[in-house]
Amino acid sequence: MIDYELDGKVAVVTGGASGIGLACAHTLARSGADVSVWDLDEAAALRAADEVATHGHRTHTAAVDVSDSAAVDAAMADVVSSLGRVDIVVANAGIGGEAAPAGEYSDEAWHAVISVNLDGVFYTQRAAIRAMKATGGGSIVNMASILGQVGFTTASAYVSAKHGVVGLTQTAAWEHAADGIRVNAVGPGFIRTPLVEKHLDQDALDFLASQHALQRIGEPEEVAELVAWLASDAASFATGTYYAIDGGYLAK
Ligand SMILES: NC(=O)c1ccc[n+]([C@@H]2O[C@H](COP(=O)([O-])OP(=O)(O)OC[C@H]3O[C@@H](n4cnc5c(N)ncnc54)[C@H](O)[C@@H]3O)[C@@H](O)[C@H]2O)c1
Repeated sequence: MIDYELDGKVAVVTGGASGIGLACAHTLARSGADVSVWDLDEAAALRAADEVATHGHRTHTAAVDVSDSAAVDAAMADVVSSLGRVDIVVANAGIGGEAAPAGEYSDEAWHAVISVNLDGVFYTQRAAIRAMKATGGGSIVNMASILGQVGFTTASAYVSAKHGVVGLTQTAAWEHAADGIRVNAVGPGFIRTPLVEKHLDQDALDFLASQHALQRIGEPEEVAELVAWLASDAASFATGTYYAIDGGYLAK
C-alpha cells in the first residue's frame, strides 16, 4: 500500500458514499488526510465516514446535491469551519442516466445528467478554487471517464458531460495555476461499482470487459490510487491533464 503522504491535508470527495468515491475517501484517509464525504444519500455518507474514520483521521459528512450550487457552497463553507481548510477536492459525484440514441434522447434525461455530471463538477470546482485560494492552493481532481475522450452509443448526455469536464479542467488549470491550484481530470474505463452493476447483466459486463486490453473491468481502488497521487505533492508538475486509467480501453 502506497502512502501518498497527505498528513495534515483536508480532502473533500463528492459522491463519496459509494464506488469510486468511497475508494478515494479510503485511499486519501489511509495516506493521512482528513476526509469530508459528500453524498446525496445522507445515511450512506454517514456509513462511509464511519468506515473511513478507521484510518485514524478526522471525518466529516455533508448531505449535498452537487447540482445545487448554493448547497455546494454551503457544504464547502462547512468543511472549512469544521476541518479548518480544504487542500484536496475530488469532484466525483455522477450518474449514468437514460440509455437512448441521440434522436430519441429526452430533454428531461439530458438535463438530469448534465446537471449532476457537468454543472455539479463546475460548482464543486468553483467552490474548491475559492476555498483553496484562501490557504495558498491545493489539488482538484475531476472525475471524467474514457467517455470524456470518445463516444458511446445511447449515452449522449453522459459523453457530453464528461467531455465538458475535461474542458473545464484544462481551463481552470491555466486560470488558477498562479493561485497554487492544480486541476486534473481522471478517466476511468469501466469499473465495478453499483453505477455499472445495477444497469448491466453478466453478458453485458463480459462484453465490456473484452473492450479493455486487460480483458477485465477495473476496481474502484485502482482508480483511487491515481486520484491520491494527483492529490499529493508527488504530482507537483501535473496540471491541466486528462489521465486515463482504463485497462487499455482507449489504446485500440
Ligand atoms: N463505474 C464506472 O465504470 C465509471 C467509469 C468512468 C467514470 N465513472 C465516474 O465515476 C464517478 C463515480 O461513479 P461510480 O461508478 O462510483 O458510481 P456510484 O453510483 O457507485 O457512486 C456515485 C455516488 O454519487 C452519489 N451521487 C449521485 N448523484 C449525486 C448528486 N447529485 N450529488 C451528490 N452525490 C450524488 C450517489 O449517491 C453515489 O453514492 C461518476 O462521476 C462516474 O461517471 C464511473
